[in-house]
Amino acid sequence: MNQEVRDLASFEDARPDNIEMLAEVRAGLLSTPKTLPCKYFYDERGSDLFQKICDLPEYYPTRAETGLLKSMAGEIAELIGPGCQMIEYGCGSSEKMRIVLSALIEPESFTAVDISKEHLLVVTEALSLEYPDLMVHAVSADFVRPFAVPAMVGTGLRVGFFPGSTIGNFTHEGAIEFLIGTKEVVGPNGAMLIGVDLKKDERILHAAYNDSQGVTAAFNLNLLARLNRELGATFDLCRFRHDAFYNAERSRIEMHLVSLSEQTVTLGGEVFSFQKDETIHTENSYKYSPGEFRALAARAGYKTTMTWIDTNSLFGIYFLQPQT
Ligand code: TRP
Repeated sequence: MNQEVRDLASFEDARPDNIEMLAEVRAGLLSTPKTLPCKYFYDERGSDLFQKICDLPEYYPTRAETGLLKSMAGEIAELIGPGCQMIEYGCGSSEKMRIVLSALIEPESFTAVDISKEHLLVVTEALSLEYPDLMVHAVSADFVRPFAVPAMVGTGLRVGFFPGSTIGNFTHEGAIEFLIGTKEVVGPNGAMLIGVDLKKDERILHAAYNDSQGVTAAFNLNLLARLNRELGATFDLCRFRHDAFYNAERSRIEMHLVSLSEQTVTLGGEVFSFQKDETIHTENSYKYSPGEFRALAARAGYKTTMTWIDTNSLFGIYFLQPQT
């Protein structure tokens, strides 16, 4: 086996290739208004920057969710029971998974799925050394596509873990479609443990996506830098700026890159024109009240059997089970 994955039970690289990335990026830049797929934020540099975002004083979600998980990990472990198979969607640093893992009763396996291969390997290697009895599987892929989960050895539950309010980065319809897909993965007796950001004072939301150190801006702009690096695009990073605001009507933070002047950019032999102030919409981050999220889960055929909210009412964690 490859040196870099020696401690893992398995490693699968199913990342989108450059041809696929170019096709998706092209389609986004040809649409009106222009968009780009947010999954391409997470190259090695993007994942580093996202890690920094999670540590920012203004970015409350990571701290709120981590604190909440710590206080209820025992309860979660009891709900899940012994010998489970955990699957993390978009594992990033897996710090939250660690909190859950340390409380779980003899978990059987952990499958980590993340589009950023470099981060995924570092994190899963470390975890498999820390938990020698745990089978750790790493899958580098876009988690909305089907991926392989190891066969069940024992009789425990399969549980999908989806923290970080990443579900808020889908549209409502996209979130429902995603949840329906997870039922195939976890099965009728399985469960999903999902962290979702709550609605709150707009000033708190605004600050979380417009940090004073400009890390979020750098993260957003890195998407263009990546297209230059990997697809040979000609974005001039000095001629775009980060813009994030709360769209109250749609209960979502919108992230954009605004063209500072009229300009053209070449990509894949094609020329794309930008007006001054025209934007590329790079991400949405929907905020849900507990009732709204449970209604969304119900539309995907899940019943919410537990809801946990932190003491500051910033963040929610939900335990969903397929409706029978
Ligand atoms: N899931 C995170 C969120 O919605 C993703 C995120 C946080 C993000 N900050 C960002 C995405 C900045 C793009 C830009 O909060």
